[in-house]
Amino acid sequence: MKDILQELENRRAVARAGGGQRRIDAQHAKGKLTARERIELLLDDGSFEEFDMFVAHRCTDFGMEQDRPPGDGVVTGWGTINGRMVYVFSQDFTVFGGSLSETHAKKICKIMDMAIQNGAPVIGINDSGGARIQEGVASLAGYADVFQRNVLASGVVPQISLIMGPCAGGAVYSPAMTDFIFMVKDTSYMFVTGPDVVKTVTNEVVTAEELGGASTHTKKSSVADGAFENDVEALAEIRRLFDFLPLNNREKAPVRPFFDEPARIEQSLDTLIPDNPNQPYDMKELIVKLADEGDFYEIQKDYAGNIIIGFIRLEGQTVGVVANQPMVLAGCLDIDSSRKAARFVRFCDAFEIPLLTLVDVPGFLPGTSQEYGGVIKHGAKLLFAYGEATVPKVTVITRKAYGGAYDVMSSKHLRGDFNYAWPTAEIAVMGAKGAVEILYRSELGDKEKIAERTRDYEDRFANPFVAAEKGFIDEVIQPRSTRRRVTRAFASLRHKKLSNPWKKHDNIPL
Ligand code: HXC
Repeated sequence: MKDILQELENRRAVARAGGGQRRIDAQHAKGKLTARERIELLLDDGSFEEFDMFVAHRCTDFGMEQDRPPGDGVVTGWGTINGRMVYVFSQDFTVFGGSLSETHAKKICKIMDMAIQNGAPVIGINDSGGARIQEGVASLAGYADVFQRNVLASGVVPQISLIMGPCAGGAVYSPAMTDFIFMVKDTSYMFVTGPDVVKTVTNEVVTAEELGGASTHTKKSSVADGAFENDVEALAEIRRLFDFLPLNNREKAPVRPFFDEPARIEQSLDTLIPDNPNQPYDMKELIVKLADEGDFYEIQKDYAGNIIIGFIRLEGQTVGVVANQPMVLAGCLDIDSSRKAARFVRFCDAFEIPLLTLVDVPGFLPGTSQEYGGVIKHGAKLLFAYGEATVPKVTVITRKAYGGAYDVMSSKHLRGDFNYAWPTAEIAVMGAKGAVEILYRSELGDKEKIAERTRDYEDRFANPFVAAEKGFIDEVIQPRSTRRRVTRAFASLRHKKLSNPWKKHDNIPL
């Protein structure tokens, strides 16, 4: 009997050793943790329950039958993060470079199926040389099986991808279909075709880092939602993000204990808006001052800085924030910011996370590059996302809300529940100068008259009261009491019920 028990321990030890000490050392030498070390840091101590530790590949080509390491290059299972359940897979680069075989894919599919069935998120840690070259089409089939599950799980359970090594070729499309992608600086990259193929086809010379490193994907392509310095920081930050999210689309996000007065008055907000309407200010200051304990988890902070997205808590409850940032492009909406915010709004709506929208937007960015790039379609994404969202929506206009951008930014007309404005708000078709130049074109030569017309227009429209007269603004509020007003608004909406007409699915402009 004792021998049998010992046999299990021996087999476990072999599986845990992955590709052996030499390859583990090589992994460490690159500044990377192993698949198991990553799981250990990600999950609560001792909470990991492993599946399929002894699964081995079935390939018999290229002498592969002689080398069948248990686990087949991916560690899978479930555990908890701060006591809440999560399914995890972590590719083991020390075993065939973490490459994906038929059986490796089956292990991932198994935990994804369980995650969908049992209503818990999936976190995938990617560190892989791609398709297992020795297996050919069986490996491609395995990828497609994972892709299909990514699609089915989308909107059912949150899916988070961590890229902690290579992720190339078609392999990128599994993370691409998850809700969030995070990368590690200098040690991870993602691309559809690598630098060698790029050189052959387009004659461009580019390094892997330039083509698909963390900086590229967080600043240029927006494929990734954030980048971290190293594995340890990345895993700690994912734990932090996880705490904001619900387990699935039928549960609310967890309510955390909070130590911040919901009615806290912030006198400093009364002077946040500069006297000069063209002077920028930092919208992040407002977000942080509204949030419980000033805690803001920003997503995509290095991309399209003219819009800010991320999570805060109010009275311990998760709220998704979308805010124009006057410090970048004067807070204009453009292609990149519309896409960035639209996807975030849809994530929040899919997972019943209420939305707080902070508005200071002078309109859509003009220009040929915007029009040629399809700003009409991309801007429509954000409009569509807000229009279809049925979660509680609270909006605060701090300053400008001009033109179509006023409509887009969670206006009353898109079923905003509470639409507040500060006394500094200016809600109009456009700024006074532009309006007067169009309305009084014949008087443009007369500077004094134009100045007077501009003042008139400002007096009439550069305020929130015209909109408030029509009921488009529910209340004009003091900046200092915004936290109290917004928190109470969300509290009153906790049992909101609103649904859209039945449809198979919508046809959002893509
Ligand atoms: C099998 C692989 C492998 C793969 C790496 N290895 N990639 N084994 N299939 N795809 C093995 C290596 O043989 C080596 O084994 C070990 O993993 C580590 O690889 P190294 O090359 O020594 O590591 P490194 O120098 O860090 O380079 C990593 C790498 C490189 C850049 C990922 O290995 C590489 O280019 N691999 C091939 C990538 C690729 O072309 N994949 C197919 C892409 S197409 P030993 O025994 O020496 O430790 C694809 C299609 C997906 O993925 C389609 C989905 C629809």
